[in-house]
Amino acid sequence: MASGGVSLADRLEEIRADALAAIAAASDAETLESARVRWLGRSGELSGAMSGMRDLGPADRPATGRLANEVKQALEAAYESREKQLAAAEAADRPGPDLTLPGRREWPGGAHPVTQVVDEICEIFAELGFTRAAGPEIETDWHNFTALGIPLDHPAADMHDTFWLDDHVVLRTHTSPVQARVMQANQPPIRVVVPGMCYRRDPFDASHAPAFEQIEGLAVDEGIDFVEFRAAIDFFVHRFFGPGTRTRFRASYFPFTEPSAEVDVTCFLCGGSGCSACKRTGWIEIMGSGMVDPVVFEECGLDPERYTGYAFGMGPARIAMLRYGIPDIRLLYEGDVGFLEQFTR
Ligand code: PHE
Repeated sequence: MASGGVSLADRLEEIRADALAAIAAASDAETLESARVRWLGRSGELSGAMSGMRDLGPADRPATGRLANEVKQALEAAYESREKQLAAAEAADRPGPDLTLPGRREWPGGAHPVTQVVDEICEIFAELGFTRAAGPEIETDWHNFTALGIPLDHPAADMHDTFWLDDHVVLRTHTSPVQARVMQANQPPIRVVVPGMCYRRDPFDASHAPAFEQIEGLAVDEGIDFVEFRAAIDFFVHRFFGPGTRTRFRASYFPFTEPSAEVDVTCFLCGGSGCSACKRTGWIEIMGSGMVDPVVFEECGLDPERYTGYAFGMGPARIAMLRYGIPDIRLLYEGDVGFLEQFTR
C-alpha cells in the first residue's frame, strides 16, 4: 500500500482520467504538447507515480505494473489520435489555391503600330487592284537616283543626305527605286504598293529617324490620267481617315513626277479648325505624289508615248504618330513593350 491513504492504483486511475481529459481538451498542437510533457513526459505525472512502485509489496507489484502499462498505452494512444485530429483540422483550415483568381495572362505579342498602318494602307489599295511588292534596302545609285531623273550631283544624292556603302551602292533614301525595278520586270498594267525601310543621314530626334518606313504606290497603264489619280487618292483618304475627310493637292516638285503634288488632308484631330497637330492650318500633309515623268518610263524601258501613270510616297510612321497622338518618333523605334502593348488589336 502506498502511503498517504491513496493507493498507487487509484493514483494511476486518477492520472488516466485527468490526462485523457487534458488530451481531449487540447485545442492546438502547443497545448497538446504541454499535456504530453505534463502527463507522459520523463519527469511527468505518470513516471512520478511509477516511482511509487518501489514501495509496493511484491504481491501488489504485477497487477499495479500491468495497470501502469495499460494507462501509459491508453495515454499514448489518446495523444497520437488527438495529434492526428489537430493536424487534420489545421490542414482543413489552411487556405487552398484560390480558384476564382484571374489567371496570369501572357501577352502574345502583336503587330507594331507602324506595321498596322502599313497593312491597313496596303489593304485599302488592294481593293483598287494594287498588289504588294518589295525591293532591296541596299540599292544601286542608278535605281535610287538616275532612273528617277535625279542627277548624282543633286543634293539628295549628297554624302550628307545618303548612306553610301560603296561607289555606286547606297542604303535607299526612299522606296521610289522599286518603281524602276517593277517597271523593268513587268509590262503594264502595273499597280503596286511597296512598303519598306529607307535610310537618310538625319538626326535621331523627336521628328526624324535615320531609318524609317515609306510606302510607295505606282500605277502604270494606257490612259491613266490625273482624274483617275485623284479618284484613287480620294478613295484611300476616305477609307483610311474617314468619309468626311477632304483632300487638297498642292503643286510641288519631284524629279520623277510631272506634275507633282503634295497631298494634304483635313486634320483628322480637329476636323480642319486648327490644332497643334496641324500647326493651326487645319491641313496635314500625308504624301508626295504626281504623274510619272516620261523620263522615268524611258530609263526603265517603257514607251512614254503609250503609257501614263501616277506614283506616290508616304511615311506610315508619321501617319501612325498623327493618328495615335504619339509625340516623339523615337517611341516607335525604342522597342519598349510597355508602350507598344497599347496598340495590340
Ligand atoms: N520619294 C519621294 C520622297 O521620298 C516621295 C514621292 C514618291 C514623291 C512618289 C512622288 C512620287 O520624298
